[in-house]
Amino acid sequence: MVSFADIEKAYSVLKPVVHKTPLLSSRTLNEGAGNEIYFKAENFQRIGAFKFRGAYNKIRSLTEEERRRGIIAHSSGNHAQGVALSSKLLGLSAIVVMPHNSIKNKVEATKGYGAEVIFCEDSTDDRERVCNELIQKHGYTLIHPYNDPLLIAGQGTVGLEIFQDLKELDYLFAPIGGGGLISGCAVAVKNLYPSVNVIGVETEGANDAYQSFRQKKLIKLAKVSTIADGMRTLSVGANNFEIIMKYVNDIVTIHDEDIFPMMRYFYERMKIVVEPTGAVAPAAVLKNSLNLKGKRICAIISGGNVDSQVFKKIFD
Ligand SMILES: Cc1ncc(COP(=O)(O)O)c(C=O)c1O
Repeated sequence: MVSFADIEKAYSVLKPVVHKTPLLSSRTLNEGAGNEIYFKAENFQRIGAFKFRGAYNKIRSLTEEERRRGIIAHSSGNHAQGVALSSKLLGLSAIVVMPHNSIKNKVEATKGYGAEVIFCEDSTDDRERVCNELIQKHGYTLIHPYNDPLLIAGQGTVGLEIFQDLKELDYLFAPIGGGGLISGCAVAVKNLYPSVNVIGVETEGANDAYQSFRQKKLIKLAKVSTIADGMRTLSVGANNFEIIMKYVNDIVTIHDEDIFPMMRYFYERMKIVVEPTGAVAPAAVLKNSLNLKGKRICAIISGGNVDSQVFKKIFD
C-alpha cells in the first residue's frame, strides 16, 4: 500500500526534475457547464505526459546492482518515454517493449531519449511475455507501468501539486488505464482533503476498472478497443485496485466520440494539444453524466502526445 508520506517523499525526489504543470480554466466552458472547472495540464510535463513522474521516482530508487544489470519496461508509449528519459538523466541503459502499432512519435521519442525499442504484438499479455523472456535471459529489472508502489507514489505527486494551487475542491476526475495515476492521486487527495470526490474515467471499449469497481473484484477483459491508447490495458493492477476500492468514489465511462469535441475545444479555444487519453477525464466533465452544478471540479489532462494523423482526423 502507498502512504501519503510516500508521495511527499516522491515529491522531494521529483521536484528538481519535473515541471510544475499549470491549472488551466476556460470562462466560456465554465459558463456553459455551470461549474468551476480546472484542468491540471500534464501535457506540459516532460515527455508530454504525467508518466515521467512515476518512472523517475522508481528508477531513482534502484540499487547499484539493479542499475548495473539494466532496466526493462513495456508500454504503448508514454511510460516508454518516461522510462527512456529517466534512464538517460540517471545514466542507465533501458530496453522498452512496445506494441508494433504504437504511435510513431511515441516510438521515435523513446528512441530519441536513448532507449532500445523491441516490438511485440498488440496485447498486454504479449508485452509481458516478451519482457519476462528478456528478464529471465539478462536479469533486467522491470519498471512496471502502473502496479508498483514507488511508481504510484510518483504519479500521486500530480494530486499533491493540484492542492498547492487549489485549496477547495468538490471533485477530481482522473483517467484510468492500469490505475497508476488515479491510485496515486486518490491517496494524496484523500489524505489532504477527505471530502473531495475522486472519480475515475474510462472509455466504454476499455471499461475493465468500471466493471471491477461495480463487481468489487478485479476483472480482466479479453480484449479492448478504444482510440485512447493509454487505456488499452486489460485490467488494472492488483495494488492499484486495492487503492481504488479504498479511496475512489465512483468510476464513469464515456464513448470514444465524446473525446473528440473535448480535444477540439482544447485546441481551438484553449490553444493546447491534448492526446485522446489525455482528454478522457475532461470529456467526462464536459459530458456531465453525474449532473453536477455549482461545483468546483478539477480534471487531469494526462498527456499531449497525439499522432498528427489522429489529430488531423479529428478535424476532418
Ligand atoms: C496520457 C495517458 N493518460 C492516462 C494513462 C493511464 O494511466 P494509468 O495506467 O496510470 O492509469 C496513460 C497510460 O499510458 C496515458 O499515457
